[in-house]
Amino acid sequence: MKYKTITKDNPQNFKVRPNLYNYEAMRKDFKWEDIHKELDFLPGGGLNLAYEAIDRHTKNDKKNKIALIWDGKNNKEEKYTFQDMSRLSNQFANILDSLGVKKGDRVFTYLDRVPELYISIIGIAKTGAIIGPLFSAFGTEAIKDRLSDSGAKVLITSPQLLANVDAVKKDLPELKHIIIVNKHNVPYSPKENEIVYEKAMAGAKTEYNICSTDKEDFSIMHYTSGTTGKPKGAAHVHEAIVGHYATAKYVLDLHSEDIYWCTADPGWVTGTSYGIFGPWANGVTQLVSEIGFQVHHWYDLISKYKVTVWYTAPTAIRMLMKYGEKEVKKHNLSSLRYINSVGEPLNPEAVIWSREVFGMAFHDNWWQTETGCIQIANYAVQDIKPGSMGRPFPGVKAAIINDNFTQELPAGEEGHLCLKYPWPSMFRTYWNKKDLYNSRFKNGWYITGDKARMDNEGYFHFVGRADDVMNVAGHLVGPFEVESALVEHPAVAEAGVIGIPDPIRMEVVKAFVSLREGFEPSEKLKLDIKKFVAEKLDANAAPKEIEILKTLPKTRSGKIMRRLLKARELGLPEGDTSTLEE
Ligand code: PRX
Repeated sequence: MKYKTITKDNPQNFKVRPNLYNYEAMRKDFKWEDIHKELDFLPGGGLNLAYEAIDRHTKNDKKNKIALIWDGKNNKEEKYTFQDMSRLSNQFANILDSLGVKKGDRVFTYLDRVPELYISIIGIAKTGAIIGPLFSAFGTEAIKDRLSDSGAKVLITSPQLLANVDAVKKDLPELKHIIIVNKHNVPYSPKENEIVYEKAMAGAKTEYNICSTDKEDFSIMHYTSGTTGKPKGAAHVHEAIVGHYATAKYVLDLHSEDIYWCTADPGWVTGTSYGIFGPWANGVTQLVSEIGFQVHHWYDLISKYKVTVWYTAPTAIRMLMKYGEKEVKKHNLSSLRYINSVGEPLNPEAVIWSREVFGMAFHDNWWQTETGCIQIANYAVQDIKPGSMGRPFPGVKAAIINDNFTQELPAGEEGHLCLKYPWPSMFRTYWNKKDLYNSRFKNGWYITGDKARMDNEGYFHFVGRADDVMNVAGHLVGPFEVESALVEHPAVAEAGVIGIPDPIRMEVVKAFVSLREGFEPSEKLKLDIKKFVAEKLDANAAPKEIEILKTLPKTRSGKIMRRLLKARELGLPEGDTSTLEE
């Protein structure tokens, strides 16, 4: 079905003048160097993203402006100015210094969305250490893999999550210190090598000399899933702030007076690039909610804090659609000016629905952990073709390339979505995996791993992944990681995992397993296996469905053929099965 293009009014008539006023003109003249001029750089000339996000505003009229509004559990609310964030992150940086943290060390966070998470992240960057944010819903295996691969020296967590850390600590010889944030005052007494955040902060100095990082020094790493192997750490440098700043300004259209809400968790890249750095580098007030998706609460937050710009994800939008227009009408959402979506394909129905019920359409945009910032987007001034991710950001060259990565394909043809590199916020390595990193670049193109097509007006349309990586509610899930967790269950002999379509979450995980001798298939066993994976990894990675087979289809070299499992599951052609061992 073809959906009608949503046309935009002349930008002269917009209530707020869009930062990106004329796409074509900006595309023609855009230079990343010009964006550098809008940043302050450190007094000695270095570049540090904590300084650009927070401290530089303490030197101008934003000093006492609210940087963070926190909506906590049990009706808690806290507000922090840029000056507060600067002072508190200085104190935190001093704590890290006292623990011997040096430039380049890895310091990880494993916390819910409490203000201390944001203070820690800014503080880590100030020391020159590399930030490693972990999603608080991760289980034991997920945190062990990431902490071990990165060789993290310090971890910031909470009493509620500590049991997971304790369970794997013996496998993490490089982890020297654990800082405990006890936001909700639960009974807890520190063990050896555990530092109580509240106590340490009380004794920490409020002045700090930010480490004079160079733009090419590492700043942050996010683990992301691939087809083979465990998740890998995509590492970014301080120059990434140039991309965060520019796209928050020109794609999210942030203006100084905005109240902005990004619903993503900093355990994922959206929650740091656009839930921390980009908006704060623009001096904008951000709302953070500790509470996950709840339809009434979400609408309440928009109306209570008069949110103007909202950045969320298709799964959440589809859930809002399920609750329907009547829920929207119960709230005053008139503060909203501009709404955006990322992480998975945004279905055209969701674009059209949002326009009807909010009076404005969700603007979809596309990017990846590796790209560090938005690459393809719908813009306030540009027409929207529902179902399209939009057009490349002015400083970005995107193209559809053939299978050999030698040629750009013409409009209308499907192929590999590739980007001309470099750009400031692109990742500089996969941690400890330089060869894998290098394999993502060919003939001047960065290969995204997505398939797409471009139409003759330069709009990009997502087709699918070129690999077996699944996208569950906007979170990439690598089949290998799930299969590894499955085979650790005492009943599972072998496992093959695929993504199957889901109307709300885009995809869910389906696992095919064969059982070890002595185990019989049963519903109870399936439930037990699901729970086992959810505890080791997280709820997104846990198979929604498990099918027990006598044996799994394998190649002659013993590799489980996920492609065949998928084709059989979805009733698709089985393709080339000449290597099948069965
Ligand atoms: O497959 C694409 C999908 O999510 C992948 C990137 O996921 P991740 O590295 O976790 O990055 C999160 C930051 C956005 C992409 O390779 N994806 C992301 N946005 C879209 C999308 N697929 C379709 N449409 C989008 N707008």
